[in-house]
Amino acid sequence: MLEKIDHIGIAVKNLDEATAFYKSMGAEPYHYEEVESQKVKVAFIKIGDSNIELLEPTSDESPIAKFLEKKGEGIHHIAYRVEDVQKSLDKLKADGMKLLNETPMDGAHGMKVAFVHPKSVNGVLTELSQPGH
Ligand code: CO
Repeated sequence: MLEKIDHIGIAVKNLDEATAFYKSMGAEPYHYEEVESQKVKVAFIKIGDSNIELLEPTSDESPIAKFLEKKGEGIHHIAYRVEDVQKSLDKLKADGMKLLNETPMDGAHGMKVAFVHPKSVNGVLTELSQPGH
């Protein structure tokens, strides 16, 4: 049901500065996007069959702004690719897992995404993502 690690999300203060390490290693960001539902700007860097997603808040109300305030820059979430986010949410809920979203939202790349509470995943904020079309 978890097909692969789609990406690892890293909270950053500044996208341009945050890409320095990756550029130094020859890994240029291939996609930039503003994600309204999360109030963030993201840059995607392809690493083999997976990605790094760098997230910079666009508003103080962004969950990423709150994360940066509390913990500073660092790993924010791990995203797994699933075939059907809604079905996965229903299954997790039936199994007693704590969800942050009961239905999928629009994420970057036109993906459908939803988050599972860290309390149900060993302290790791977990995203489920499904290609939109
Ligand atoms: Co993500």
